[in-house]
Formats: sequence, structure tokens, C-alpha cells
Amino acid sequence: MTPLKKLFPLFLCFLLAWSCVPAAKKKDRDIEKKITGLVSKMTLEEKIGQMTLVSCSNIPEDEQFSEALRKGHIGSVINEVDPARVNSFQKIAVEESRLGIPLIVGRDVIHGFKTIFPIPLGLAATFNPSLVEQGARAAAMEATSAGVRWTFSPMLDISRDPRWGRISEGFGEDTYLASVMGVAMIRGYQGTDPGDPTSLAACVKHFVGYGAAEGGRDYNSTFLPERVLRNVYLPPFLAGIQAGAMTLMTSFNDNDGVPMTGNRFLVRDLLRDEWNYNGFVVSDWASVNEMIPHGFAADQAHAARLALEAGVDMDMMSFAYITQLEKLIKEGAVSEKLVDEAVRNILRVKFLLGLFDNPYVQEDLHKEMFYNPHHMELSRQSAVQSAVLLCNDGTLPLDEQKIRSVLVTGPMADAPYDQLGTWVFDALEQTTATPLKAIREHYGHQMRVIYEPGLKYSRDKDRSGIRKAVASARAADVVIAFVGEESILSGEAHCLASLDLQGAQDELIEALQSTGKPVITVVMAGRPLTIEKEISASNALLYSFHPGTMGGVALADLIFGKEVPSGRLPVTFPKTTGQIPLYYNHNRTGRPFLGNETMLDQIPLKAGQTSLGNTSFYLDAGAAPLFPFGFGLSYTTFAYTNIRIDQVSYTQKDTLTLSFDLTNTGKAAATEVAQLYVCDKTGSVTRPVKELKRFERIALEPGETRSVSWELPISELAFWNLQMKRVVESGQFELWVAGDSDSGEPVLFEVNN
Ligand code: BGC
Repeated sequence: MTPLKKLFPLFLCFLLAWSCVPAAKKKDRDIEKKITGLVSKMTLEEKIGQMTLVSCSNIPEDEQFSEALRKGHIGSVINEVDPARVNSFQKIAVEESRLGIPLIVGRDVIHGFKTIFPIPLGLAATFNPSLVEQGARAAAMEATSAGVRWTFSPMLDISRDPRWGRISEGFGEDTYLASVMGVAMIRGYQGTDPGDPTSLAACVKHFVGYGAAEGGRDYNSTFLPERVLRNVYLPPFLAGIQAGAMTLMTSFNDNDGVPMTGNRFLVRDLLRDEWNYNGFVVSDWASVNEMIPHGFAADQAHAARLALEAGVDMDMMSFAYITQLEKLIKEGAVSEKLVDEAVRNILRVKFLLGLFDNPYVQEDLHKEMFYNPHHMELSRQSAVQSAVLLCNDGTLPLDEQKIRSVLVTGPMADAPYDQLGTWVFDALEQTTATPLKAIREHYGHQMRVIYEPGLKYSRDKDRSGIRKAVASARAADVVIAFVGEESILSGEAHCLASLDLQGAQDELIEALQSTGKPVITVVMAGRPLTIEKEISASNALLYSFHPGTMGGVALADLIFGKEVPSGRLPVTFPKTTGQIPLYYNHNRTGRPFLGNETMLDQIPLKAGQTSLGNTSFYLDAGAAPLFPFGFGLSYTTFAYTNIRIDQVSYTQKDTLTLSFDLTNTGKAAATEVAQLYVCDKTGSVTRPVKELKRFERIALEPGETRSVSWELPISELAFWNLQMKRVVESGQFELWVAGDSDSGEPVLFEVNN
């Protein structure tokens, strides 16, 4: 190639960049101009209407509602999914209101609309952002075909407490994993052009710290210092905003005494001034009013003022703005400039979504979209990749050719509603492929499938069915027990103080084990459960979270070896509830657990006060979890060799290159999730023992070795230090590359600034 030809692609890029940037800027400028024009024509009442979000499930369709739309008193609605009704509401807003401003129609599309994907915690277990993005795109195609253009997802709350029911809705305990998955979801929802009619505006929620509710009790207080917020809880939101999330929701919790809906420092100073966020901020459901029972606002007028001053643009279901703002402004207690800013933020999103040009939905489009075969296959694939194999003595995978009969048992074996998980409003339960149905349909022609549920539902304490299940187990070659939680046991407000299996499920597993037949346990749940007993009573255990519409097919395929498990835990699994909070990336302590401490049953009588080992552990539960973050088995094994970095010392501006060889050392073609962890050994404040910095799913044939090379800019080791500055501090670091957060040998390097 001549040098000129070599330069040609570069020249093309330059031309493209030169022509695109001004076009995008021009579009933004045009939008801002249109907003200014519109705002200048709006009455105060109309402005406040734009700031009001109303749920159609609470307001029946009546003349009063239509009249409110006509007068511009309602700017957006949620919970309407009938395209004809969506169009009729839009028609009033666009054709019969004075300024013709379209509505935004929102819905909680959390892990699918009709085709349901694994719960977000399960999606996190795939460690596969590309699949998550494709799933979110499918959800967007389905939801937008029903007229919905805004979803209250992704939930980016870091949670280190599985008692909190909403841990199911997020991506687990790790900041980096949650950031990557959140960005993938936003890209999937919003697509490449927000103005496309299939683009679903994302809403990053709940801002911020909500997952750290005291004791795992929903809506409770959090006590997160600024440094912890900045290092752990805020980065997924920043990543989401940088990925273009058009909206953001404040959370219910008060942090260190300040409810988030009235938190000026975080919602205005940080979000707007520091991060330059230009989407709109919506309150959570009635969270403006809830500042009154919080004891932060004296009455609704006070609450409305606090929320607006904090930077909340839209009031969801408190009716505080519509009731109070006009009076507050007329009295001079609140500046109309704040209202104008809020309205601008909302109108900007409406313009970006293309609603002014095309407010209506094509009413029959959904027929091609709902449960489209491509979406169903994505749901199956996501469920396959979200299941985590936690133990296996070789019983799995089952060999179809050798097995003559199988007992399918347990309350989750045929629970089409419950396997979908929390936040499922729009799916039809008859479309769910349960494990029983899938095993019968796909594997039943080879073997006898006996079904005896043992228990009717997860909380069932009626033991009479267990006897029947045991009798059937004796007649079968192998037992597959599906246990876990009904979907109602996790999600909003559904917190638990004990994480043991509910009802008599533990007795069912023990009774099945006593038959001497191989027992495969599958847990479908919304959170980590304390399953130490079930692990020892099972020959193999697959943890599938709530796997969604195609979960049954996915699990059957994994059990019979058509697919190989590749899910990894996005959250630490404790042995017992008393260990919570237990998370892998805790700070280094002055007295870490050494492993030679005296445990409860070994303590001699009248042992001396300091004889047991003065380290950080529980006498009865030790220090280790049941399973660490990132853990998951396969039907093969993997070896990491030849791990090396390109230098021993780096500056802040450098990029570290890590190389290693990964070998599939077993007999099954499979996918490993390789993970890179880093520890900053000394800081101006104590640093986590390890932090995830990279991961990649790598598929290998048996015996195959792949040479892998990853780049890590040293700038990604920055953290908020003692001076509350985000910096990379000089010093020694360690890194590990391994299949989970508790394996591998450290490699040392230095950063010198
Ligand atoms: C939840 C939000 C949800 C909203 C709208 C609230 O109760 O906390 O996550 O998006 O309701 O349904």
C-alpha cells in the first residue's frame, strides 16, 4: 500500500468526524431553541403540568382525566400499555391541548415486557453485557410496540444485603459489574437513535444508596459517607449517564438524614453541576410526599419546595407540584426559574424521543413483536448463561441415553408465574416454559418422566406430599428437585430476615437424599439463599435465580448437557444470614482472618481471652462465605498459565497489558468467565482487598488453549482519596486473573507518579 492509500481511511474518519460533530451540535441547538420558544408560551399551570406524572392504574379513564390532559395538567403517564388508549391520550394532549405537547408513556419494563428475561441479578450472572444489551433491545421492541417510550430501568443500586428484596432488581454487589451491565441495558433500551420509535428511554434508579438500607429493610435509612458513595455507589450512575441515560429516579432512602428526593447536594450539585447531566430527574412513587413522614418536610408545600430546590424535575404520584407550586411561586417562596429549568429538562427528553414529530404508536405492530421467536431464543440463551453451577460430583450432565426414568419434583418445577420473578406485569403466564414442560417435551421421549411436586408452593409446610415424592424417587434413576422462592418473596418491600429455604423445602431435599438416588437440586430465587444444607444433600446444585419465560428449556438443556453452565455469582453467597453484609471487596482490616483461628466447637473450657486468634471472623461461621463473588463451575475445568504483565512499574498515564494463557483442561466445550482483580496495597485511606477491573467470557474446545491479552489503563485504578480527590496514588499493587474472586496468585506491580 502506498503511504497515501494508508492515510486514506484516516482522512475519511476525519471527514466523518468533521461533518458529524457540527450536525449533532446543530440538532442540540435547534432543540434548545424550540424549548425556549415553547417555554416562553407556557402558563405556569402548563409548566407544572409537564412536571406531573400520573399513573393510569390509579386514575380511571374518565372525563376529569381527559380534561386534565386537555388543560395540560398532566405531562406524562405511567402504566398504560394498550396502544389504542395510548393513542387516545396522546390525541388529547397533542390535538386538543393549547400547546400540543405530547405525553411520555412510562412502564416498569424491568427484565422484559412480554418475553421475560432472567431477573437483573440473573442477567448479571451471565457476565455477558452483549447478551444483556440484546435482551434490553428485545424488551424495547415489545414495549414500544405497545406505546411505551420510557422504562424505569436499569436499577443500578449496589446491594451487599440479600435480605433486601430488591437485590433481585439490580446487578449485585460489584460497582464495575453493575456499571458494565447498566450501560449495556441502556444501550439496548435506547438503541442508536433515541428518536427512533423503537427507542425506550432508560431511567437509572434509585439515586442513590438505596441498596444499603439498614438491615436490608426496604425504604430504610442509609449511612453512606461521601467517599463510599463516590467509590462504590455513584460510579454505575455516572457510567449510565455517560452512556446517555435520558432520565434518572431519586430513591426512597434518607442518607445520613437527608431524603434523596430532597438531597440538594447529590441531585443538584453533583448530578447537574459536577456531572453536567441534562436529562430529567423523576421522584420515586410518592417520594416527594414521603419527606413528611420522614420528618424532613413539615407539610406538602414544604416537601414540594425541597424537592424542586434539590433538582427533582418531575413528581411521580405525590401531586405535590400540581397542588403546591403555583402558590409557592406566587408567594415568592420558590423561583419560577427553577420550574423553567425542570420543564426544559423534560421537554428536551420529549424532543429527543421524537415525540413532537411522531407521538402515536402503530396499533397493530405488537402482533409481530410480542414473544417473537428471536426474543424467546434470547430469553433461553440468557437463562442458560445466568445459571450458576455451585456443586457437582459428576452427576451432571445427565446422559439421556443411560437414564430410563427421572423424577421431577419440587414446588418450582411447574410454577409458570413464579419462575418469571418480580416486576412482571405484562407477561402471559401460559407462555412460560417450565422445567417440567421442557423436560417432558424435549427429553421425555427418551425416558419416563415422573412428576410429583412434594410441596405445592415454596412456603408450603404441608408435608403430606413429601412421602409421595420419596416413593416416586425410589422408582426413578435420578431426582431433579426444583426449589426456591415464589416471585412475591423478592422485589420491592419483600425483605426477609431468614434466607433459608421457605416452608418444608429443606425437608423435601433431605428426604429425597435419604433414598440414595442421585439428587440434582435447582434453586430458582430472587436472591442468594443460605443453602449450605442443600449443597451437602445434593449431588449437584444449579442456582438459576428466577430465569424468565424460557427458563425451563434452558435448565433442561443444562441438566442434559446440551448446554454447559457458564454463569458466575454476581454477589457473595453467605453461609448464614448472620454473616450479612458479606461482600468480596471489603476494606482491608488491621487483623484479617488467617485460617488458623479456633472455631466454636474447638474452644477448650476456660480458654484464655486471647487464645482463640484475634482476627476478624465469627466463632461459629468463620470468615469465608459459602461461595465467593465470581464463582461458578462448569462441566469442564480451566487452567490459567503464563500470567504476565508488560512492566513492573507504571505511571498514571500508562496502560498495563496483562497476558495469560487459558486452557480448557476437561472434556466439554465450554465458556470460562476470566476475571481480573486488583488491590491497591497502601492508600491515603484503606482500600478494598480486591476489586474487579475486567472480565471476559472465553469459549474453548476441550484441550484448546487461548492466549489472552487485556489492557488496563492505570487511570482506572483511581479512587476518591483522603482529600476527596479522584486520583491514582503511587505505591504497590497486586493483580489476580482467575475464575473467581477467591482464586489465583497475585502479580505485583508499582505505580509511580
Ligand atoms: C419503585 C420504582 C418504580 C416505581 C414506578 C416504585 O415503587 O420504587 O422502582 O419504578 O414504583 O412503578
